[in-house]
Amino acid sequence: MLGVPGWPAELHDAQSGVSLRPYRRSDATAWSQVRRANEEWLAPWEPTPPGGAWADLNSPASFRLVYKELRRAARAGHAMPFAVCLRTPDNVERLVGQVTLGNIVRRAFCSAYAGYWVDARVAGRGVIPTALALAVDHAFDQGGLHRIEVNIRPENAASRRVVEKLGFREEAYHQKYLHIAGAWRDHVGYALTTEDLAGEGGLLARWHQQRGIRRTA
Ligand SMILES: CC(C)(COP(=O)(O)OP(=O)(O)OC[C@H]1O[C@@H](n2cnc3c(N)ncnc32)[C@H](O)[C@@H]1OP(=O)(O)O)[C@@H](O)C(=O)NCCC(=O)NCCS
Repeated sequence: MLGVPGWPAELHDAQSGVSLRPYRRSDATAWSQVRRANEEWLAPWEPTPPGGAWADLNSPASFRLVYKELRRAARAGHAMPFAVCLRTPDNVERLVGQVTLGNIVRRAFCSAYAGYWVDARVAGRGVIPTALALAVDHAFDQGGLHRIEVNIRPENAASRRVVEKLGFREEAYHQKYLHIAGAWRDHVGYALTTEDLAGEGGLLARWHQQRGIRRTA
């Protein structure tokens, strides 16, 4: 389908070397390697899988199904699924994670849910806050959205830090909200709207400024 606002898109932050882009068919091996290497890191926070071993669910062959499904959802305007890449010191771009704006509903809502993960080997470097800031700015600008929500299990301290550092508002407590890692789990609801960024020059600019202030503090 043509004419989906904001899709496809490639987004870059030169300062950190973080970039976002649609998945490519050729990502199968890299995606499978990073997913297989991160089973213990990712499984507790992911939707309950349909059954089967992690290695099989995250094989290059499985990627082809994931790729098709994400591309279908993006073309229909229901999602903006971004592969997150990080430029290494030797100037190679490595696939290290994903940020997805999903469940996009337009008309009077103009809202999406954000989900994300990153390779544990690059955790703690601000990759996902930077990637989420890029995605939110894009969603509010070219994507025409007004609100981004993130729902997080209360015990997921690292993920809660991501949205808290970016200034998302804690708005809700959803009981037994999503089926994650084998059970219905409570989630804390966070949100950000375009009004929250008025006069800030965007979320990425605010995040950069905040990090600069921190570095000199
Ligand atoms: C949540 C997640 C995406 C954060 O990504 P990130 O790029 O590491 O984000 P940050 O660099 O901002 O780090 C966030 C917090 O993680 C913690 N952290 C830092 N380094 C870490 C490491 N090596 N290992 C584990 N946690 C670490 C810190 O508390 C940090 O907060 P701080 O900046 O206040 O110290 C990542 O931890 C992850 O992929 N977790 C597993 C999947 C998941 O939980 N997805 C979200 C579901 S809602």
